[in-house]
Amino acid sequence: MTSSTLVSRAAGRSPEDVRADIMRLVEEYCQLAHGARPFVAGQSSVPVSGRVFDSSDVQSLVDSALEFWLTSGRFNDQFQVELAKRIGVRYALTVNSGSSANLVAFAALTSPLLRERKIEAGAEVITAAAGFPTTVNPSMMWGMTPVFVDVNIPTYNITPDLVEEAITPKTRAIMAAHTLGNPFDARKIAEIAKRHNLFLIEDCCDALGATLHDKHVGTFGDVGTLSFYPAHHITMGEGGAVFTGDPTLRRAVETFRDWGRDCYCDPGKDNTCKRRFDWQLGDLPYGYDHKYIYSHMGYNLKITDMQAAVGVSQLDHLDDFIAARRRNFSWLREGMRDLEDLFVLPEATPHADPSWFGFLLLVREEAPFTRDVLVRHLNERKIGTRLLFGGNLTRQPYMKSRNYRVHGTLPNSDRITHQAFWIGVYPGLGREEIDYVLDVIHDFCRIAKAG
Ligand SMILES: Cc1ncc(COP(=O)(O)O)c(C=O)c1O
Repeated sequence: MTSSTLVSRAAGRSPEDVRADIMRLVEEYCQLAHGARPFVAGQSSVPVSGRVFDSSDVQSLVDSALEFWLTSGRFNDQFQVELAKRIGVRYALTVNSGSSANLVAFAALTSPLLRERKIEAGAEVITAAAGFPTTVNPSMMWGMTPVFVDVNIPTYNITPDLVEEAITPKTRAIMAAHTLGNPFDARKIAEIAKRHNLFLIEDCCDALGATLHDKHVGTFGDVGTLSFYPAHHITMGEGGAVFTGDPTLRRAVETFRDWGRDCYCDPGKDNTCKRRFDWQLGDLPYGYDHKYIYSHMGYNLKITDMQAAVGVSQLDHLDDFIAARRRNFSWLREGMRDLEDLFVLPEATPHADPSWFGFLLLVREEAPFTRDVLVRHLNERKIGTRLLFGGNLTRQPYMKSRNYRVHGTLPNSDRITHQAFWIGVYPGLGREEIDYVLDVIHDFCRIAKAG
């Protein structure tokens, strides 16, 4: 197409007119290409998770693409404000994954901005032995020692008694996840942290929307983290966030996210501090451009505005998504009540309203089958399964010869490693899929019991 045809087609039309056409076409496209497909038992797959979206999400993405701002911009500002409001916290900052969120949340605890509160290499950090590796890795990357405590069954979470027992004079922080959307007792653990002058980081990557005593998880401790990978409660493809009520921690998180720079201008902005050429820091000459002064050993973990645009529209679906997850969880819980002799069924922590990420089953020792045989059977019938991530993390190959400590023993984490798995509750599943899953599991158990 030549530039003259482009001009003649555009003649008399404003960019807004063309944009409106594009948005209409996007909606039409989504209906045709991404519309609901009927479920066929045995043929359609029942995934554990997946992105759930409609034309409004694609329109928001296209809107941002047309603007072509690319780096974090107005959608990111909007997302951060709306996310913080939804959680009930002062500040939320986006990053490019949940793992990055954990990394900068932990790094923030080492910031000189915290003065005598900052934590240093050699400190101990108490964490859960069973879970996702990137909840633990930041402490090791910063030269500290993770101290693993066993988790409870059937909440699959750390418990206040073991956390308190594991504290030594070297302990400076507790960092653990609200497992599969089920809150750990963050109120009691935050009290313990306060009493012992420890930081508490709550990894809420699997728990957006979960509450304890009617307060959002992540707001009991010092910092909370989220993931927006497609498996999670809302998605932006890759993405995450760190949230906190503490302005100093917020500043430290932002600095570590943004190259470690001392300057805090938004992308594309200059001289927010009004002293851009008037600083004297480190051994640099007076007036060295503040844009290039680094007060922290940072990273660059920012997101694009296209990711944020998807996040903004996904947030509008969040309440429905959480309700669907809770509904699917209770259908599975009800439907498997008669199988409690074979499985330990998951249970919510007292005073918690979980925002379930998955439905975790632990095959009892007495069952006439193993977890692995059942998992294979389900996958053959197109029912997706996952393990509780890395299981007992001390058994992972990358942990060999690393510096860590185990408090007591880890029998439950080992049971989880050998006997637990989870199936999906994500909003893409409805009554038909859940009934199919229940039928397949019941048939399998009946045949196994018979013999
Ligand atoms: C508890 C927990 N923390 C952190 C992460 C990492 O999130 P991401 O995949 O966005 O890096 C995950 C991933 O699922 C997770 O389950």
